Parts: sequence; structure tokens; C-alpha cells
Amino acid sequence: MKTSEEPKVGQELYHIRLKKGDIPRFVFLPGDPARVKLMASTWKDAKFLSENREYITYSGSYRGTKLAATSTGIGSGAIAIAVEELLRVGADTFIRTGTTGALLKDLKVGSIIISTGAVRGDGATKAYAIPEYPAIANFEVILAAIEAAEKLQVDYTLGLTYSTDSFYLGQSRPGFRGYTNEYSRRILKELTDVKVVNMEMESSTLFVLSSIYGVRAGSIFAVIANRANGEFEHKKGITNMIKVANETMHILAQWDKLKENDNKRYFYPSLLK
Ligand code: URA
Repeated sequence: MKTSEEPKVGQELYHIRLKKGDIPRFVFLPGDPARVKLMASTWKDAKFLSENREYITYSGSYRGTKLAATSTGIGSGAIAIAVEELLRVGADTFIRTGTTGALLKDLKVGSIIISTGAVRGDGATKAYAIPEYPAIANFEVILAAIEAAEKLQVDYTLGLTYSTDSFYLGQSRPGFRGYTNEYSRRILKELTDVKVVNMEMESSTLFVLSSIYGVRAGSIFAVIANRANGEFEHKKGITNMIKVANETMHILAQWDKLKENDNKRYFYPSLLK
């Protein structure tokens, strides 16, 4: 079976059930299908496009910038499928809008994290690149997210993320009947010692695939758990994360226009003159 070929005109991709022309370049990637609808409720002209398994997609616009959001489900295998297929239908800028557990005890539940890169604790990227290959967020996305958070006065932290396919043992939570092992007991401390700021399940895959395919990606998280002090509140921070994410995409769209006008490939601050 050939899977890497370009979709034919009008052909829907197998999992996401979208075809070329259905979505704009700018795509948010929350894990949770319900968060796609929540994001779409903040846009103009929000429109349901497709639903299949964990993949649900809406499009719309924010301050004149055309956007879409596709849910990825949980973990590296699921997000790799979404990214592979969204690229084939024309996406070239991704922002994961996820929830996360913070590792630093002073990092507040309800605040947001902008990821600068991820430790590859996932499974899927083993099929894509050698273990030493980095999982880095795109610098334009990071910079635009900082600008958006500053502008909206949202409390944010910048830092490295750990991505794992395991919510329980892989994130130092006991399994069924308290099952644990040596790895699970030591991983939180090992990551904290090297200044990783949060844990989640999809960003390393998004970053590796985006580097390989030459597109932009970043992650903005709502902190719903603090693993150092035990706080957990599953809804806090999501509204602010969505506001910052929308604004980030809008800023990127503005910067893309500046780049185009000046015939530049990359954004740098003096382009704002
Ligand atoms: N998502 C995760 O993967 N871990 C958390 O602690 C919270 C959200």
C-alpha cells in the first residue's frame, strides 16, 4: 500500500476525513475533541468540518486570521497520524493546545507554559529519527506566544517539556493496585534536576515531525496539575491558554505578511519597523 503519496484532488484522508482546501494553514492541535469545540466557540464563522475516531475538526477565523483545530487524541501514535494527514491537506503551522502537569513547585495551576522543546519519552518518533535527534519548538511560534501572553497579561512560564506515552507509570503515578517500578519512582526527580518544567504526552512527536517536514510547531499548555505540590484542578487555565493560542496564530499571520513584503524567509524583530 502506498501511503506517502499526495492525496488526489477531492480525496479525503483516511483518519481525519479532510481533503485539500478544507482547512487553512494554521491549525491548533488539542488532544481533547471537546476542546476543539471550545476553541471554535471563540472564533467567528466557526464551522464543523469532520469527525472520525478521536479526530474532530472545526474551522473559523480570529481577528481576520483563518484557523482550524483538529483533536489528536492522547499520545504519540495518535498525534503522529493527525500531523501526517494535516500536512497532506495543506497545514504548515501547528500549535498544540494541551493540558499539562508542572514539575516546579512554584509553577501555578491555572497559569500557562510555552514549550521551547521536548524530551523524547514517546514511542512514535523512534520510527522517524535517531534518539539523539532533538524535539524543538519553532522559534517564531515561541516568540509569537511570548508576545501574545505579554499582551494579554497571562501568567506564563517558558521551558522544556517531557513527553511520554504513559499517563500513570511514565509520569510517576502509581498503576492499578499501587503498582510501581524503579523508573516510575525516579523520573520526576531526574527531570526536575535538569530543569524540565512540565510533563505531557504529545509535543515531542509534534516537534520531531515538524522539523523533519520543515513546518512550524509549538505547544502552549494550561497547567492543570502541579506534581511537586500535589495541586490538581482540571479546568483552570484553559480559557487563558485558548486566548493566548488564538492571539499567537494571529501574530504569526501578521509576521508572515511582513516576511512576504520584505522577501524574507524568517521573522526577526527589526522587520516590525
Ligand atoms: N496531562 C498529562 O499528560 N499529565 C498531567 O499531569 C496533566 C495533563
